[in-house]
Amino acid sequence: MAKKRFMTLSRHILEGERMHPGATGELSALLDQLGMAAKLISLEVNKAGLVDILGFTGSENVHGEKVKKLDIFANDVLIKAMDHGGHFCVMASEEEEEIIHIPSQHQVGKYVLLFDPLDGSSNIDANISIGTIFSIYKRVTPDGTPGTLDDCLQPGYKQEAAGYVVYGSSTILVYTTGHHGVHGFTLDPAFGEFLLSHEDIKIPSRGRIYSANEGNYLKWPQGLKNYIKYLQAHTFDEKPYQARYVGSMVADLHRTLLYGGIFMYPGDMRNPKGKLRLMYECNPMAFIIETAGGRAIDGKKRILDLQPERLHEKTPVYMGSPEDVDLLEKFLREAE
Ligand code: AHG
Ligand code: MN
Ligand code: MN
Repeated sequence: MAKKRFMTLSRHILEGERMHPGATGELSALLDQLGMAAKLISLEVNKAGLVDILGFTGSENVHGEKVKKLDIFANDVLIKAMDHGGHFCVMASEEEEEIIHIPSQHQVGKYVLLFDPLDGSSNIDANISIGTIFSIYKRVTPDGTPGTLDDCLQPGYKQEAAGYVVYGSSTILVYTTGHHGVHGFTLDPAFGEFLLSHEDIKIPSRGRIYSANEGNYLKWPQGLKNYIKYLQAHTFDEKPYQARYVGSMVADLHRTLLYGGIFMYPGDMRNPKGKLRLMYECNPMAFIIETAGGRAIDGKKRILDLQPERLHEKTPVYMGSPEDVDLLEKFLREAE
């Protein structure tokens, strides 16, 4: 087994950017700051259980501070960490209805940041893996002016970078700029650095895991029902598929990226657009999955080609190993 290079996130980003003609080092700086914010959130996430035991919950803690819900905390950390570095002209968060302007006292930059500060919130109290997802674009409005909604509503293929952090048995940050592969870094709590642990991740061409909330099965499109029944009735290289569903998109997709298979959050009769948001869940995860050699569709079209109309719009999503998505797509088409 090749010896792992001692490579920190900061150095890796810098080296990656140096390979990129005309790079200004700005992307490195902002990705580095995102890594800093992730460390802060990870600290709080890992303490959350402890806070409950020590009874700091309730309306306020020993310092008289309001105990914030973890996703509001994560949202505040990201906004405060990212709004003064001079890198962004505007931001947008799952937790904020409107776009987030850069405070007038800070310099406005040329990038746009969209994020889901805490993904999988329903799993927090059960201590199940949760995550943070981020998506970065270049602005489309004139430099030096305040960013606008148009800067945010760009199709996913225009992303400059995307990534996620999964707060699980360890804290892992995975990012890509779309050019030099997908890379994972594990936080070493001993000295608070993200160290390269998963270099140039490639998703297996086919997996053996399908991941969806089968509680919604009866509401699913017929083609999807046929696909699930086909997976359950057949073996592949003498082995059947397994069902795995954490209920945190970041955890389910991190497993899909490493082990292969397919993650699905379909639309159904009641919610034709499904539940997951295009701009700060599906687009960044699709950018990562495609850069690692996978596919990401809404059932008909490539996720990254969808032209967004609204900041918090939802889309059905099927993404993972190319051969698994191909087979699903065939079942959906045949049932039309
Ligand atoms: P969030 O906590 O940011 O709202 O995201 C939760 C999402 C996603 O993480 C997960 O895949 C999905 O909700 C699970 O939804 P169901 O519980 O309906 O399966
Ligand atoms: Mn989410
Ligand atoms: Mn969230």
